[in-house]
Amino acid sequence: MATTTFKAPLFFALFLSLLFHITTSLQETEILITFKSSIEDPMNSLSSWSNTSNTHLCNWTGITCSSSKLSLSVTSLNLQGLNLSGEVSPSLCQLPNLSHLNLADNFFNQPIPLHLAQCKSLETLNLSYNLIWGTIPDQIFLFTSLKILDLSKNRIEGVIPDSLGSLKNLQVLNLGSNLFSGSVPSTIFGNFTQLVLLDLSENPFLISQIPEEIGKLVKLQQLSLQRSNFHGFIPESLVGLLGLKVLDISQNNLTGEIPLKLGLSLENLISLDVSQNRIAGSFPIGMCNSKALINLNLHTNLFDGSISNTFDECLNLEKFQVQNNGFSGDFPSGIWSLPKIKLIRAENNRFIGEIPDFISKAVQLEQVQIDNNSFTGRVPNGLGLLRILYRFSASRNGFYGELPQNYCDSPLMSILNFSNNLLSGNIPELKICRKLVSLSLANNSLNGVIPPSLAELPVLTYLDLSNNNLSGSIPDDLQNLKLALFNVSFNRLSGKVPFSLVFGLPASFLQGNPGLCGPGMPNPCSDERPKHSSIRPNKLIITLIIVTLAAGVMLVCVGFFIMHRSSHCEEKCLSEEWNMVLFYPLRINEQDIMIAMNEKNALSDGGTFGRAYMMKLPSGELIVVKKLMNSGRVSSKSLKAEVKTLAKIRHKNVTKLLGFCYSDESIFLLYEYIQNGSLKDTMCRLDIQLEWSVRLRIALGAAQGLAYLHKDYVPYLLHRNVKASNILLDMDFEPKLTDISLDRIVGENAYQSAIASELQSCCYNAPELGCGKKPTEQMDVYSFGVVLLELVTGKKAEQEESGESVDVVKWVRRKINMKNGPIQVLDPKIATSFKQEMLAALEIALRCTSITADKRPTMLEVVRSLQALHTMSQFSGVQLEP
Ligand SMILES: *[C@@H]1O[C@H](CO)[C@@H](O)[C@H](O)[C@H]1NC(C)=O
Ligand SMILES: *[C@@H]1O[C@H](CO)[C@@H](O)[C@H](O)[C@H]1NC(C)=O
Ligand SMILES: *[C@@H]1O[C@H](CO)[C@@H](O)[C@H](O)[C@H]1NC(C)=O
Ligand SMILES: *[C@@H]1O[C@H](CO)[C@@H](O)[C@H](O)[C@H]1NC(C)=O
Ligand SMILES: *[C@@H]1O[C@H](CO)[C@@H](O)[C@H](O)[C@H]1NC(C)=O
Ligand SMILES: *[C@@H]1O[C@H](CO)[C@@H](O)[C@H](O)[C@H]1NC(C)=O
Ligand SMILES: *[C@@H]1O[C@H](CO)[C@@H](O)[C@H](O)[C@H]1NC(C)=O
Ligand SMILES: *[C@@H]1O[C@H](CO)[C@@H](O)[C@H](O)[C@H]1NC(C)=O
Ligand SMILES: *[C@@H]1O[C@H](CO)[C@@H](O)[C@H](O)[C@H]1NC(C)=O
Ligand SMILES: *[C@@H]1O[C@H](CO)[C@@H](O)[C@H](O)[C@H]1NC(C)=O
Repeated sequence: MATTTFKAPLFFALFLSLLFHITTSLQETEILITFKSSIEDPMNSLSSWSNTSNTHLCNWTGITCSSSKLSLSVTSLNLQGLNLSGEVSPSLCQLPNLSHLNLADNFFNQPIPLHLAQCKSLETLNLSYNLIWGTIPDQIFLFTSLKILDLSKNRIEGVIPDSLGSLKNLQVLNLGSNLFSGSVPSTIFGNFTQLVLLDLSENPFLISQIPEEIGKLVKLQQLSLQRSNFHGFIPESLVGLLGLKVLDISQNNLTGEIPLKLGLSLENLISLDVSQNRIAGSFPIGMCNSKALINLNLHTNLFDGSISNTFDECLNLEKFQVQNNGFSGDFPSGIWSLPKIKLIRAENNRFIGEIPDFISKAVQLEQVQIDNNSFTGRVPNGLGLLRILYRFSASRNGFYGELPQNYCDSPLMSILNFSNNLLSGNIPELKICRKLVSLSLANNSLNGVIPPSLAELPVLTYLDLSNNNLSGSIPDDLQNLKLALFNVSFNRLSGKVPFSLVFGLPASFLQGNPGLCGPGMPNPCSDERPKHSSIRPNKLIITLIIVTLAAGVMLVCVGFFIMHRSSHCEEKCLSEEWNMVLFYPLRINEQDIMIAMNEKNALSDGGTFGRAYMMKLPSGELIVVKKLMNSGRVSSKSLKAEVKTLAKIRHKNVTKLLGFCYSDESIFLLYEYIQNGSLKDTMCRLDIQLEWSVRLRIALGAAQGLAYLHKDYVPYLLHRNVKASNILLDMDFEPKLTDISLDRIVGENAYQSAIASELQSCCYNAPELGCGKKPTEQMDVYSFGVVLLELVTGKKAEQEESGESVDVVKWVRRKINMKNGPIQVLDPKIATSFKQEMLAALEIALRCTSITADKRPTMLEVVRSLQALHTMSQFSGVQLEP
């Protein structure tokens, strides 16, 4: 008996917990299935999520459970990269133990799902790489348990709210690649005592200094602030970040000096990137020196006194990027021998100093770029001892003396550039660097011969030895290489030039070597001169034929190479100076854009300034790429600023500018794709009959867009090119203005000449335009009035009437002076029941197109009048219902 009384409760407990287990699982199954039902899953990744399948829910795709006692419970949901979209439903928060939610790399297109704050144990929320939009709401503080918040690579805009500072447990805060604006609030950092990673990079609309308070984040290991428009000084407080491993503040507008002098602990630093700012000053002399060297220096009394600064520092440093700034003074020489250093970039500064021989200790070194500085001394012997170095580019410096014999002994070396230095002596043979692609030794004082061993480097493609004192002949075997560039101009070379080096290359430069001779050269070679002065006539004829044939072949070759080069230009140009700025995460690069520039994708109406092309994104979305000429009148800095100004416009009646890409020659603007094409095309189509209510809505929307540009947007903008082909219609025929203020992008002169050359749309231009008047709002109003006339009359802005082209304004004015005139001009395709409204709209259009500018209403007045009509129209619509 005793045993049973003892066992019964145990059994009961067991039974209960089993029951509990089952009910929990059932509930969780339902919760997950509810969640799934609000989600679109094109790849069917969640097929295992089903109440009919035999798999336990803990084995469903993306689910991780944990167990306590006898119950299993979902703790983590990892659905990244499954091409999911739809709605993140709040049902998830009924999972009592959910602590990690990763929805990254999908296509969720919605505001931040605030309701997830109800998930009481949520620690990780990863929404990175989606299409999340809207602002961070103040209620973000509700996510009290969050440790990891990753909202990067979305379209979140607005200011970063103060209330974010309440998330005391945050360890990772990633807001990179979004559209945040304004200044980063310095107040948010007070509670972030646990923060390890802070990423505010790639937010082109921030206008902020780096907040001093970041220096208080004692646990910070990674600080990424690159490409976010930060300006001002780098706060000295950063030296307090003793655990910092990665500091990236590159590509901002930072000034002043780096506060390294104060002893920013370099013990843990792995990567330092301050490139592309306007930082000046110098680095402390002892920086990154190893202890051994300090001792050495102490012995030789060269030590500069800052011992605390130099202990074990930089031993973890792998990347040192300070290029494109205004640094001067000694380059910190300790960097050259760090045990883990891989990458050194310091080009385009004014550093001085020498590269020590013990660069050989930097056994991990892969890449060095120090072009365009004031380095001096000899090319170190140690260079040849580095085994994985593949790029060493040190052009435009003051290196002198002879190249060491082993200068190209790294088996991986691909790019060597010592051009524009003061090197002298012979060029040592190259044998070991069989991966060498590019060798540039131009503009030095090298002498001796071109080393024949060059011909044995199988992938050598660029060879520039110009402007030296090289002598001797060009090795015949160089013909075996597949060179793209061969430049030996301005040396003292002599002898016969191998035929294929004259004619067989895309680019060959031989001039400035008076001693060179042979076909294609100014001098024939002496051994080619006729040996006997008496040539028999038939021989002469044969020679002539051969010469003629050779000339023909040459012509063909030259033609071929010209064609060849131009057809390859696109690729070439690409590798050159393309800059791309995206305001939305589009997942494309310059190449994609080039590929899309294809006549197949061209849109019929490119606009005044260039062609437009349609392009499909990896996500399946379509965008429009508009190609403009880069007149070069607008500097690239102000170009960026201007495009940003246009990209910031957010209005339902303005097409979104998603990004742009530019080179010296062209500018590509990336716009959202609007399904129904332009109002102009739609009016011409026979298969679509725009009803009056739709026309009115189009007019109202366009007017609202213009009123917004004129009065609400800062800076105030003029459209300057309002016309039916610049009003696009979306699926619901909601109008969207496009090609706004392009004068800001192409420059005033280019703008005016483009407008002037476009005869077709001159009817949209206000009469005062072209009288040297500055552009005004009233000119936009006039153009809008023309569009409104088109909508009312159903006639194009410019049309043929008895062989003469007449603009719609003149036509209407002529007609309405006749008897019953106003009614005659109305579009006969619209039912007469709308007559009153159409007459009212006509009246507005006539006021807008007044000859005298100050009689025209403002866009705001136009909006009000049209709104009144619109309300009336809806009202009459209701009345008409039977
Ligand atoms: C599975 O779920 C669906 C819808 O949620 C429900 O209609 C069906 O009855 C469920 N089946 C079982 C076996 O629970
Ligand atoms: C999940 O699947 C594995 C093997 O496929 C199995 O061993 C395990 O018991 C399953 N887990 C649950 C909770 O059903
Ligand atoms: C889930 O959370 C509850 C309390 O919310 C807790 O009692 C239970 O042990 C947790 N289960 C698991 C598996 O962690
Ligand atoms: C969020 O997910 C993305 C995509 O998988 C990943 O790269 C990123 O590291 C995740 N964020 C965090 C903080 O783990
Ligand atoms: C820190 O968090 C508390 C609430 O947890 C909040 O009241 C306070 O404002 C926060 N401090 C800062 C600097 O954000
Ligand atoms: C950088 O800052 C200077 C003023 O310090 C300002 O004139 C310039 O426009 C800024 N450049 C950019 C690209 O923001
Ligand atoms: C060289 O660097 C300076 C800055 O030190 C820069 O102004 C100049 O444009 C650079 N020259 C070239 C050819 O890149
Ligand atoms: C080598 O450096 C010079 C001067 O900076 C530069 O003009 C040239 O393009 C470089 N060559 C290669 C192949 O990068
Ligand atoms: C060599 O110097 C000349 C004149 O200073 C310059 O035009 C040329 O670009 C330089 N060559 C290289 C490869 O930098
Ligand atoms: C996800 O979507 C992209 C773009 O729509 C597509 O290219 C990709 O193939 C999809 N991924 C898979 C695994 O189907």
